[in-house]
Amino acid sequence: TPRVFSGIQPSGGLTLGNYLGAMKRFVEMQNAGVYECIYCIVDLHAITVWQEPQALRRATRELCAGYIAVGIDPERSILFNQCQVAGHAQLAWIFNCVARLGWMQRMTQFKDKAGKNAQNASLGLFAYPTLMAADILLYHATHVPVGEDQKQHLELTRDIAAKFNHDYGVEFFPLPEPVIEGAATRVMSLRDGTKKMSKSDPSDMSRINLTDDADTIALKIRKARTDPDPLPESPEGLEGRPEARNLVNIYAALADKSVAEVLAEFGGKQFSEFKPALAELAVTHLSPISKRMAELMQDQAEIDRILARGADRAEEIAAPILRKTYEIVGLVQTR
Ligand code: TYM
Repeated sequence: TPRVFSGIQPSGGLTLGNYLGAMKRFVEMQNAGVYECIYCIVDLHAITVWQEPQALRRATRELCAGYIAVGIDPERSILFNQCQVAGHAQLAWIFNCVARLGWMQRMTQFKDKAGKNAQNASLGLFAYPTLMAADILLYHATHVPVGEDQKQHLELTRDIAAKFNHDYGVEFFPLPEPVIEGAATRVMSLRDGTKKMSKSDPSDMSRINLTDDADTIALKIRKARTDPDPLPESPEGLEGRPEARNLVNIYAALADKSVAEVLAEFGGKQFSEFKPALAELAVTHLSPISKRMAELMQDQAEIDRILARGADRAEEIAAPILRKTYEIVGLVQTR
């Protein structure tokens, strides 16, 4: 059976970008019933930039609650945190010896995150993509649902798999397919339609958090930047109007409609009419999620039990693949 793997970092809370770009697909793929789905809380990726330990613990459990609240069923899918399956870090080391420095230096996320003073970035941040390749290939995953921003990392994962297979003369690692689908594969900031909506943006008004209450969501949408024109009648009319495009994409993704269908309804109308409709739609979708997250967070022992069980199941798939990898490489395993 085809196997799905994806991950989210427990660094700060979840945003509407995470939900529409990734998590909504996670749930759809789980419910399609044709994939074995593995969803991970990538805590080892989170610490590539400093995380306050108590905040990391909380974000890890809150992300587990978030996964369940959006519809991941920890019985049908495997849900766990990365550090509990040692194979991720072990396979990442092998891939550090397969990937080339030149490949890594092309990664745009590193350049964005490291900023001007790249000399002061952690070595872990630079090696981030080889750990991500290990996450996916440790399970021989075939499909990886992600937002648009992870595309380059997925290409690197395929390059690493291909080079490993070539260097050792095997056909061992499958080349995973990125699944970048939906109307909102790149949700933009509410304050600047050319910047990605991100949990690390200093302005909370730039994003919708899955934990925002109804009033906050409505306020953020009301204050969202727009241009003065009414909505266009067709998708071509969104050309050069990044803020308008973003809000229409969000509406389409939430309503499970195409952009053309949304514009058939709202084309020619003012934002003063569209924004309240969008706010209502967002609140209708997100309120039950934040409510469920808060309930789940009441019982942390239960969350830890779910994660422990998920790690056991993940380990079972990973262990033989890691053993075989060591064998192919020529590492002697005496136990
Ligand atoms: P992270 O934690 O930054 O984001 C989790 C997922 O949410 C998507 N996403 C967005 N999609 C649309 N619009 C946005 N504004 C937006 N912001 C975030 C991301 O594309 C991602 O799918 N490197 C990954 C985590 C990771 C991973 C993996 C993913 C680690 N190992 C293995 C897949 C497979 C990351 O930083 O995601």
